[in-house]
Amino acid sequence: MKAEDIVIIGIGDAGGRIVECLLPLVSGSRLAAINTDSDALSSSSIPKKILIGEAQTRGLGTGGDPVKGRRAIDDDHAALHGLFEDIKLAVVVAGLGGGTGSGVAPFVLEMARDADVSTLALVTLPLAFEGAPRKSVALDALSAVHDIADVAIAVENDLLAESSNRAELKASLEVSDQAVAGSLQCVFQILTGKGYVRAGLADLKRLASGAGPGALGFGWGDGTRRVRESLASLFDNPLLEHGEAVKRAKSILLTVASGDDLRISEVDEIVSIVREKAAAQAQLCVGTVIDPALADRLDLSLISFDTGHPVVPRTSAGASSTPSSRRRPAKGKSKASRAQDKLRFDAAGKGRFKDVEPTLLDGEDLDIPTFIRRGIVLEK
Ligand code: GTP
Repeated sequence: MKAEDIVIIGIGDAGGRIVECLLPLVSGSRLAAINTDSDALSSSSIPKKILIGEAQTRGLGTGGDPVKGRRAIDDDHAALHGLFEDIKLAVVVAGLGGGTGSGVAPFVLEMARDADVSTLALVTLPLAFEGAPRKSVALDALSAVHDIADVAIAVENDLLAESSNRAELKASLEVSDQAVAGSLQCVFQILTGKGYVRAGLADLKRLASGAGPGALGFGWGDGTRRVRESLASLFDNPLLEHGEAVKRAKSILLTVASGDDLRISEVDEIVSIVREKAAAQAQLCVGTVIDPALADRLDLSLISFDTGHPVVPRTSAGASSTPSSRRRPAKGKSKASRAQDKLRFDAAGKGRFKDVEPTLLDGEDLDIPTFIRRGIVLEK
Protein backbone atom coordinates (compact mmCIF):
# COMPACT_ATOMS: atom_id res chain seq x y z
CA MET A 1 0.00 0.00 0.00
CA LYS A 2 1.24 3.49 -0.82
CA ALA A 3 0.86 6.52 1.44
CA GLU A 4 -1.54 8.08 -1.11
CA ASP A 5 -3.88 5.10 -0.57
CA ILE A 6 -4.51 6.20 3.01
CA VAL A 7 -6.79 8.97 4.26
CA ILE A 8 -6.45 10.03 7.89
CA ILE A 9 -9.49 11.81 9.27
CA GLY A 10 -9.54 13.66 12.59
CA ILE A 11 -13.06 14.10 13.94
CA GLY A 12 -13.94 16.72 16.56
CA ASP A 13 -11.41 18.80 18.51
CA ALA A 14 -9.34 15.95 19.98
CA GLY A 15 -9.32 13.97 16.72
CA GLY A 16 -8.16 17.07 14.85
CA ARG A 17 -5.39 17.77 17.36
CA ILE A 18 -4.00 14.22 17.21
CA VAL A 19 -4.08 14.24 13.40
CA GLU A 20 -2.28 17.60 13.42
CA CYS A 21 0.57 15.91 15.32
CA LEU A 22 0.72 13.39 12.47
CA LEU A 23 1.12 16.13 9.82
CA PRO A 24 4.92 16.12 9.72
CA LEU A 25 5.09 12.35 10.14
CA VAL A 26 2.95 10.86 7.38
CA SER A 27 3.83 12.75 4.24
CA GLY A 28 1.91 11.68 1.17
CA SER A 29 -1.21 10.53 3.01
CA ARG A 30 -4.35 12.56 2.63
CA LEU A 31 -5.32 14.31 5.85
CA ALA A 32 -8.74 15.71 6.69
CA ALA A 33 -10.50 17.24 9.68
CA ILE A 34 -14.25 17.08 10.27
CA ASN A 35 -15.78 19.24 12.96
CA THR A 36 -18.90 21.07 14.05
CA ASP A 37 -16.70 23.79 15.57
CA SER A 38 -15.59 26.37 13.00
CA ASP A 39 -12.96 28.02 15.26
CA ALA A 40 -11.21 24.70 15.86
CA LEU A 41 -11.16 24.07 12.12
CA SER A 42 -9.84 27.50 11.20
CA SER A 43 -6.95 27.24 13.66
CA SER A 44 -6.00 23.77 12.35
CA SER A 45 -3.25 23.30 9.79
CA ILE A 46 -4.79 20.10 8.39
CA PRO A 47 -5.17 20.68 4.64
CA LYS A 48 -8.75 19.49 4.12
CA LYS A 49 -11.31 20.87 6.57
CA ILE A 50 -14.96 19.96 6.55
CA LEU A 51 -17.43 21.91 8.69
CA ILE A 52 -20.64 19.99 9.32
CA GLY A 53 -23.93 20.80 11.05
CA GLU A 54 -23.56 24.57 10.74
CA ALA A 55 -27.30 25.04 10.28
CA GLN A 56 -28.04 23.70 13.78
CA THR A 57 -24.85 24.38 15.75
CA ARG A 58 -23.92 27.71 14.06
CA GLY A 59 -20.33 26.46 14.00
CA LEU A 60 -20.10 26.34 17.81
CA GLY A 61 -19.76 22.58 18.36
CA THR A 62 -22.37 20.22 19.77
CA GLY A 63 -21.83 21.03 23.46
CA GLY A 64 -21.22 17.36 24.21
CA ASP A 65 -24.40 16.06 22.55
CA PRO A 66 -23.77 13.06 20.25
CA VAL A 67 -27.32 13.32 18.87
CA LYS A 68 -26.39 16.75 17.48
CA GLY A 69 -23.23 15.23 16.05
CA ARG A 70 -25.28 12.54 14.36
CA ARG A 71 -27.70 15.12 12.94
CA ALA A 72 -24.79 17.21 11.71
CA ILE A 73 -23.47 14.34 9.64
CA ASP A 74 -26.96 13.49 8.38
CA ASP A 75 -27.41 17.11 7.23
CA ASP A 76 -24.00 17.42 5.60
CA HIS A 77 -23.44 13.92 4.36
CA ALA A 78 -22.69 15.24 0.86
CA ALA A 79 -19.69 17.23 2.11
CA LEU A 80 -17.91 13.95 2.77
CA HIS A 81 -18.30 12.57 -0.73
CA GLY A 82 -14.98 12.22 -2.44
CA LEU A 83 -13.15 11.58 0.84
CA PHE A 84 -12.81 7.89 0.03
CA GLU A 85 -12.13 8.11 -3.70
CA ASP A 86 -9.11 5.97 -4.71
CA ILE A 87 -8.50 5.17 -1.06
CA LYS A 88 -7.69 1.72 0.38
CA LEU A 89 -7.49 2.53 4.09
CA ALA A 90 -9.34 5.17 6.13
CA VAL A 91 -7.89 5.96 9.54
CA VAL A 92 -10.46 7.66 11.76
CA VAL A 93 -9.19 9.44 14.88
CA ALA A 94 -11.52 10.88 17.54
CA GLY A 95 -11.73 11.66 21.24
CA LEU A 96 -14.88 9.89 22.46
CA GLY A 97 -17.08 11.47 25.13
CA GLY A 98 -17.94 14.72 23.34
CA GLY A 99 -20.73 15.18 20.81
CA THR A 100 -18.81 15.47 17.56
CA GLY A 101 -16.29 12.63 17.84
CA SER A 102 -18.81 10.23 19.44
CA GLY A 103 -21.72 11.14 17.16
CA VAL A 104 -19.84 11.37 13.88
CA ALA A 105 -17.02 8.77 13.96
CA PRO A 106 -19.28 5.68 13.60
CA PHE A 107 -20.96 7.26 10.54
CA VAL A 108 -17.69 8.13 8.85
CA LEU A 109 -16.46 4.57 9.42
CA GLU A 110 -19.66 3.25 7.97
CA MET A 111 -19.36 5.46 4.90
CA ALA A 112 -15.83 4.16 4.35
CA ARG A 113 -16.94 0.57 4.77
CA ASP A 114 -19.78 1.12 2.27
CA ALA A 115 -17.21 2.47 -0.19
CA ASP A 116 -15.23 -0.79 0.26
CA VAL A 117 -12.42 0.98 2.06
CA SER A 118 -10.67 -0.77 4.99
CA THR A 119 -10.92 1.06 8.30
CA LEU A 120 -8.72 1.62 11.33
CA ALA A 121 -10.18 3.63 14.21
CA LEU A 122 -8.03 5.20 16.90
CA VAL A 123 -10.14 6.66 19.69
CA THR A 124 -9.46 8.04 23.14
CA LEU A 125 -11.66 7.55 26.22
CA PRO A 126 -12.39 10.35 28.71
CA LEU A 127 -10.43 11.17 31.83
CA ALA A 128 -12.03 9.92 35.06
CA PHE A 129 -12.79 13.45 36.27
CA GLU A 130 -14.90 14.13 33.18
CA GLY A 131 -17.64 12.10 34.86
CA ALA A 132 -19.90 9.13 34.27
CA PRO A 133 -22.23 10.62 31.61
CA ARG A 134 -19.29 11.40 29.31
CA LYS A 135 -17.82 7.96 29.93
CA SER A 136 -21.15 6.40 29.05
CA VAL A 137 -21.38 8.40 25.79
CA ALA A 138 -17.81 7.29 25.02
CA LEU A 139 -18.44 3.59 25.69
CA ASP A 140 -21.58 3.59 23.53
CA ALA A 141 -19.62 5.20 20.72
CA LEU A 142 -16.73 2.78 21.25
CA SER A 143 -19.13 -0.12 20.87
CA ALA A 144 -20.37 1.26 17.54
CA VAL A 145 -16.86 2.08 16.34
CA HIS A 146 -15.58 -1.37 17.27
CA ASP A 147 -18.43 -3.11 15.47
CA ILE A 148 -17.82 -1.22 12.24
CA ALA A 149 -14.05 -0.73 12.01
CA ASP A 150 -11.77 -3.51 10.78
CA VAL A 151 -9.27 -2.51 13.43
CA ALA A 152 -10.19 -0.49 16.52
CA ILE A 153 -7.67 0.87 19.02
CA ALA A 154 -8.83 2.54 22.21
CA VAL A 155 -6.50 4.70 24.26
CA GLU A 156 -7.53 5.75 27.76
CA ASN A 157 -6.73 9.40 28.38
CA ASP A 158 -6.16 8.64 32.08
CA LEU A 159 -3.37 6.25 31.14
CA LEU A 160 -2.05 8.68 28.53
CA ALA A 161 -1.86 11.43 31.12
CA GLU A 162 -0.02 9.07 33.48
CA SER A 163 2.44 8.09 30.75
CA SER A 164 3.26 11.68 29.83
CA ASN A 165 4.50 12.45 33.34
CA ARG A 166 3.20 16.01 33.19
CA ALA A 167 1.09 17.61 35.88
CA GLU A 168 -0.67 20.20 33.70
CA LEU A 169 -3.62 18.79 31.79
CA LYS A 170 -3.04 20.63 28.52
CA ALA A 171 0.69 19.92 28.42
CA SER A 172 0.06 16.33 29.40
CA LEU A 173 -2.44 15.72 26.58
CA GLU A 174 -0.18 17.48 24.08
CA VAL A 175 2.83 15.35 25.00
CA SER A 176 0.82 12.18 24.91
CA ASP A 177 -0.91 13.01 21.61
CA GLN A 178 2.51 13.28 20.06
CA ALA A 179 3.46 9.91 21.47
CA VAL A 180 0.27 8.34 20.07
CA ALA A 181 0.95 10.01 16.71
CA GLY A 182 4.52 8.66 16.75
CA SER A 183 3.27 5.12 17.37
CA LEU A 184 0.71 5.46 14.60
CA GLN A 185 3.49 6.64 12.31
CA CYS A 186 5.38 3.38 12.97
CA VAL A 187 2.28 1.41 12.01
CA PHE A 188 2.00 3.45 8.77
CA GLN A 189 5.59 2.90 7.92
CA ILE A 190 5.03 -0.82 8.27
CA LEU A 191 1.79 -0.77 6.24
CA THR A 192 3.22 1.42 3.50
CA GLY A 193 6.25 -0.79 3.02
CA LYS A 194 8.92 1.46 4.53
CA GLY A 195 10.08 -1.45 6.69
CA TYR A 196 12.41 -4.25 5.70
CA VAL A 197 10.41 -6.83 7.58
CA ARG A 198 6.86 -5.87 6.80
CA ALA A 199 3.45 -6.65 8.16
CA GLY A 200 0.54 -5.78 5.89
CA LEU A 201 -2.96 -4.52 6.49
CA ALA A 202 -4.19 -8.12 6.13
CA ASP A 203 -1.99 -9.10 9.10
CA LEU A 204 -3.35 -6.25 11.20
CA LYS A 205 -6.94 -7.17 10.34
CA ARG A 206 -6.26 -10.82 11.17
CA LEU A 207 -4.76 -9.89 14.55
CA ALA A 208 -7.79 -7.69 15.36
CA SER A 209 -10.40 -10.14 14.14
CA GLY A 210 -12.66 -11.44 16.89
CA ALA A 211 -10.87 -9.37 19.55
CA GLY A 212 -11.90 -6.38 21.63
CA PRO A 213 -10.44 -2.91 20.95
CA GLY A 214 -6.64 -2.95 20.85
CA ALA A 215 -4.32 -1.21 23.30
CA LEU A 216 -1.41 0.83 21.94
CA GLY A 217 1.86 1.31 23.78
CA PHE A 218 5.36 2.49 23.01
CA GLY A 219 8.85 2.60 24.42
CA TRP A 220 12.21 3.97 23.37
CA GLY A 221 15.87 3.96 24.17
CA ASP A 222 19.15 5.20 22.70
CA GLY A 223 22.88 4.58 22.81
CA THR A 224 24.51 1.29 23.65
CA ARG A 225 21.75 0.18 26.01
CA ARG A 226 18.91 1.05 23.63
CA VAL A 227 17.46 -2.47 23.45
CA ARG A 228 17.21 -2.84 27.22
CA GLU A 229 15.99 0.75 27.68
CA SER A 230 13.32 0.54 25.00
CA LEU A 231 12.02 -2.77 26.35
CA ALA A 232 12.02 -1.43 29.90
CA SER A 233 10.05 1.65 28.89
CA LEU A 234 7.65 -0.40 26.73
CA PHE A 235 6.85 -2.73 29.61
CA ASP A 236 6.60 0.16 32.01
CA ASN A 237 4.15 2.03 29.78
CA PRO A 238 0.86 2.68 31.60
CA LEU A 239 -1.01 2.33 28.28
CA LEU A 240 -0.05 -1.34 28.32
CA GLU A 241 -0.84 -1.52 32.03
CA HIS A 242 2.85 -1.93 32.80
CA GLY A 243 3.07 -5.08 30.69
CA GLU A 244 -0.14 -6.77 31.95
CA ALA A 245 -1.91 -6.07 28.62
CA VAL A 246 0.88 -7.90 26.79
CA LYS A 247 0.58 -10.93 29.07
CA ARG A 248 -3.15 -11.15 28.38
CA ALA A 249 -2.96 -10.44 24.64
CA LYS A 250 -4.31 -12.92 22.15
CA SER A 251 -2.46 -11.21 19.31
CA ILE A 252 0.25 -8.56 19.07
CA LEU A 253 1.70 -6.30 16.38
CA LEU A 254 5.20 -5.16 17.33
CA THR A 255 7.13 -2.59 15.32
CA VAL A 256 10.82 -1.95 15.84
CA ALA A 257 12.11 1.31 14.36
CA SER A 258 15.67 2.62 14.36
CA GLY A 259 18.38 4.16 12.19
CA ASP A 260 20.52 2.46 9.54
CA ASP A 261 22.55 0.59 12.15
CA LEU A 262 19.66 -1.51 13.50
CA ARG A 263 21.10 -5.01 13.98
CA ILE A 264 19.38 -8.37 13.46
CA SER A 265 20.63 -9.44 16.89
CA GLU A 266 18.83 -6.45 18.44
CA VAL A 267 15.53 -7.32 16.74
CA ASP A 268 16.04 -10.96 17.83
CA GLU A 269 16.54 -9.96 21.43
CA ILE A 270 13.48 -7.69 21.42
CA VAL A 271 11.26 -10.31 19.83
CA SER A 272 12.36 -13.05 22.19
CA ILE A 273 11.73 -10.89 25.25
CA VAL A 274 8.27 -9.86 24.00
CA ARG A 275 7.53 -13.54 23.31
CA GLU A 276 8.65 -14.43 26.82
CA LYS A 277 6.27 -11.85 28.31
CA ALA A 278 3.31 -12.83 26.12
CA ALA A 279 1.18 -15.94 26.59
CA ALA A 280 2.54 -19.00 24.79
CA GLN A 281 -0.39 -19.16 22.38
CA ALA A 282 -0.42 -15.42 21.50
CA GLN A 283 0.13 -14.57 17.83
CA LEU A 284 3.03 -12.17 17.38
CA CYS A 285 3.56 -10.27 14.15
CA VAL A 286 6.73 -8.17 13.87
CA GLY A 287 7.67 -5.37 11.49
CA THR A 288 10.83 -3.28 11.32
CA VAL A 289 11.29 0.31 10.16
CA ILE A 290 14.63 1.81 9.16
CA ASP A 291 14.45 5.58 9.51
CA PRO A 292 17.82 7.40 9.26
CA ALA A 293 16.29 10.34 11.15
CA LEU A 294 16.14 8.16 14.27
CA ALA A 295 19.95 7.81 14.28
CA ASP A 296 20.88 5.66 17.29
CA ARG A 297 17.44 5.89 18.86
CA LEU A 298 15.30 2.73 18.97
CA ASP A 299 11.48 3.03 19.07
CA LEU A 300 9.12 0.19 19.89
CA SER A 301 5.37 0.34 19.26
CA LEU A 302 3.08 -2.43 20.29
CA ILE A 303 -0.61 -3.00 19.64
CA SER A 304 -2.13 -5.78 21.70
CA PHE A 305 -5.58 -7.21 21.07
CA ASP A 306 -7.94 -8.95 23.46
CA THR A 307 -6.48 -7.50 26.55
CA GLY A 308 -9.56 -8.28 28.61
CA HIS A 309 -9.49 -4.60 29.48
CA PRO A 310 -12.65 -3.10 30.98
CA VAL A 311 -13.17 -1.03 27.81
CA VAL A 312 -14.24 -4.19 25.94
CA PRO A 313 -17.50 -2.86 24.58
CA ARG A 314 -21.03 -3.56 25.57
CA THR A 315 -23.37 -5.04 23.01
CA SER A 316 -24.09 -2.47 20.34
CA ALA A 317 -27.84 -2.90 20.80
CA GLY A 318 -28.05 -0.04 23.28
CA ALA A 319 -25.47 2.19 21.64
CA SER A 320 -27.03 5.61 21.29
CA SER A 321 -24.46 6.72 18.76
CA THR A 322 -24.89 3.67 16.56
CA PRO A 323 -25.57 4.85 13.01
CA SER A 324 -29.19 4.26 12.10
CA SER A 325 -28.12 2.88 8.74
CA ARG A 326 -26.32 0.04 10.53
CA ARG A 327 -29.76 -1.42 11.00
CA ARG A 328 -29.86 -1.89 7.21
CA PRO A 329 -28.21 -5.08 5.99
CA ALA A 330 -24.54 -4.11 5.75
CA LYS A 331 -22.72 -4.17 2.45
CA GLY A 332 -20.45 -7.19 2.64
CA LYS A 333 -19.95 -9.12 5.82
CA SER A 334 -20.19 -7.04 9.00
CA LYS A 335 -17.39 -7.18 11.54
CA ALA A 336 -19.80 -8.45 14.17
CA SER A 337 -20.61 -11.48 12.06
CA ARG A 338 -16.95 -12.09 11.29
CA ALA A 339 -16.03 -11.91 14.95
CA GLN A 340 -15.45 -15.21 16.65
CA ASP A 341 -16.37 -15.54 20.27
CA LYS A 342 -16.33 -11.89 21.30
CA LEU A 343 -16.63 -11.38 25.05
CA ARG A 344 -19.40 -8.89 25.68
CA PHE A 345 -19.12 -6.37 28.46
CA ASP A 346 -22.59 -7.21 29.75
CA ALA A 347 -21.74 -10.90 29.80
CA ALA A 348 -19.85 -10.24 33.03
CA GLY A 349 -21.50 -11.78 36.04
CA LYS A 350 -22.48 -15.28 37.02
CA GLY A 351 -20.71 -17.91 34.96
CA ARG A 352 -18.65 -15.42 32.97
CA PHE A 353 -15.50 -17.51 33.18
CA LYS A 354 -17.25 -20.86 33.06
CA ASP A 355 -16.20 -21.87 29.55
CA VAL A 356 -12.98 -19.91 29.28
CA GLU A 357 -9.90 -21.94 28.34
CA PRO A 358 -7.13 -21.90 30.98
CA THR A 359 -4.00 -19.84 30.17
CA LEU A 360 -1.38 -22.57 29.95
CA LEU A 361 2.32 -21.76 29.88
CA ASP A 362 4.84 -24.60 29.99
CA GLY A 363 2.19 -26.87 31.43
CA GLU A 364 1.24 -24.41 34.17
CA ASP A 365 -2.24 -22.88 34.46
CA LEU A 366 -1.48 -19.17 34.87
CA ASP A 367 -5.04 -18.45 36.00
CA ILE A 368 -4.16 -20.12 39.31
CA PRO A 369 -2.42 -17.60 41.59
CA THR A 370 1.37 -18.07 41.64
CA PHE A 371 1.59 -18.69 45.38
CA ILE A 372 -0.85 -21.62 45.07
CA ARG A 373 0.88 -23.05 41.95
CA ARG A 374 4.27 -22.87 43.68
CA GLY A 375 2.96 -24.19 47.02
CA ILE A 376 4.21 -21.10 48.87
CA VAL A 377 2.92 -20.91 52.45
CA LEU A 378 2.18 -17.34 53.49
CA GLU A 379 3.21 -16.52 57.02
CA LYS A 380 0.73 -14.64 59.18
P1 GTP B 1 -18.04 18.56 21.05
O1 GTP B 1 -16.99 19.59 21.41
O2 GTP B 1 -18.85 18.13 22.23
O3 GTP B 1 -18.87 18.95 19.88
O4 GTP B 1 -17.32 17.22 20.61
P2 GTP B 1 -15.78 16.88 20.32
O5 GTP B 1 -15.74 15.50 19.80
O6 GTP B 1 -15.13 17.96 19.50
O7 GTP B 1 -15.17 16.92 21.76
P3 GTP B 1 -13.61 16.99 22.15
O8 GTP B 1 -12.82 16.35 21.07
O9 GTP B 1 -13.26 18.36 22.57
O10 GTP B 1 -13.61 16.11 23.45
C1 GTP B 1 -13.94 14.73 23.42
C2 GTP B 1 -13.06 14.00 24.41
O11 GTP B 1 -11.74 13.99 23.92
C3 GTP B 1 -12.95 14.68 25.78
O12 GTP B 1 -13.96 14.14 26.62
C4 GTP B 1 -11.56 14.37 26.24
O13 GTP B 1 -11.55 13.15 26.98
C5 GTP B 1 -10.80 14.15 24.97
N1 GTP B 1 -9.89 15.24 24.57
C6 GTP B 1 -10.17 16.55 24.38
N2 GTP B 1 -9.09 17.21 23.92
C7 GTP B 1 -8.09 16.28 23.80
C8 GTP B 1 -6.74 16.32 23.34
O14 GTP B 1 -6.19 17.34 22.95
N3 GTP B 1 -6.06 15.13 23.35
C9 GTP B 1 -6.63 13.96 23.77
N4 GTP B 1 -5.89 12.84 23.77
N5 GTP B 1 -7.89 13.89 24.20
C10 GTP B 1 -8.61 15.03 24.21
